Amino acid sequence: MISNSDKVLVAGVTGGVGQLVAAKLLAKNLNVRGLTRNKAKAESMFNSRVELVEGDIRYPHTLIEATNGINYIICCTGTTAFPSARWDFADFWQPSNSPQAVDGEGVKNLLAAAPKDLKRFVFVSSCGVLRKDQLPFNILNIFGVLDAKLEAEKAITTSGLSYTIIRPARLIDGPYTSYDLNTLLRAKTDGKKAVVMEIGDRLNGETSRVDVANACVESLFYNTTVNQDFAIINSGDRPSSIDWSQLFSQL
Ligand SMILES: NC(=O)c1ccc[n+]([C@@H]2O[C@H](COP(=O)([O-])OP(=O)(O)OC[C@H]3O[C@@H](n4cnc5c(N)ncnc54)[C@H](OP(=O)(O)O)[C@@H]3O)[C@@H](O)[C@H]2O)c1
Repeated sequence: MISNSDKVLVAGVTGGVGQLVAAKLLAKNLNVRGLTRNKAKAESMFNSRVELVEGDIRYPHTLIEATNGINYIICCTGTTAFPSARWDFADFWQPSNSPQAVDGEGVKNLLAAAPKDLKRFVFVSSCGVLRKDQLPFNILNIFGVLDAKLEAEKAITTSGLSYTIIRPARLIDGPYTSYDLNTLLRAKTDGKKAVVMEIGDRLNGETSRVDVANACVESLFYNTTVNQDFAIINSGDRPSSIDWSQLFSQL
């Protein structure tokens, strides 16, 4: 089980889920290192409480410093499913930060850079990876985002490392991009729905970024999540507190 002497690398620490993951790790007094493409952008988010290392998952040589001495990795990186400025087009036909480059090859680069004694690789994937031919996922996958996520999942499950794969549906809540650490620590799901999790990829609906971040962090505390892949959505009446132990034990 994770302890306060461990260090967790959050890849995609400036993202909607990644910021919340970092804040929740800090709230549990865990050591956090953030992998970011832009240190200056990330610095203001965490009141200097997160060690930041610059790197880009497309380029393996930039991941050496970030992964050195790390015990856990939570990978929350991603790009848009459909063409956008975030694809970093060199020209119209050549996006350099495409789903294939980031969600597929990039995650595989991060996995390859992981220390051999890594205790867990937690990956934020997506609902639909196992039913890419069904609506609405066949549309979501027009530019290959689900193909890329599945390719990354396969690399993770065959890597020999302990892993947890979390598949959210359409994300809601946040991103709290312009906020600071105190705001992140107080972030709550706006909805009043409970957390529902199920092994595999059969759930439909929407998922709070807050609950995805909670699931990433909480999963590190339970052996029931080791080498599991599960979908997570929000549905039903939300209890006053979420019992992660029970949710994970039902997987
Ligand atoms: N949106 C949805 O409805 C949905 C549904 C299911 C699953 N998901 C998945 O959920 C995860 C979190 O989503 P989100 O909305 O929180 O993501 P987000 O806000 O778009 O954040 C993505 C993060 O990835 C980083 N990133 C992008 N390209 C990178 C690269 N080449 N190297 C290193 N870092 C890179 C970004 O850093 P920069 O600040 O440098 O750009 C950012 O920190 C993603 O994996 C996404 O695919 C999303």
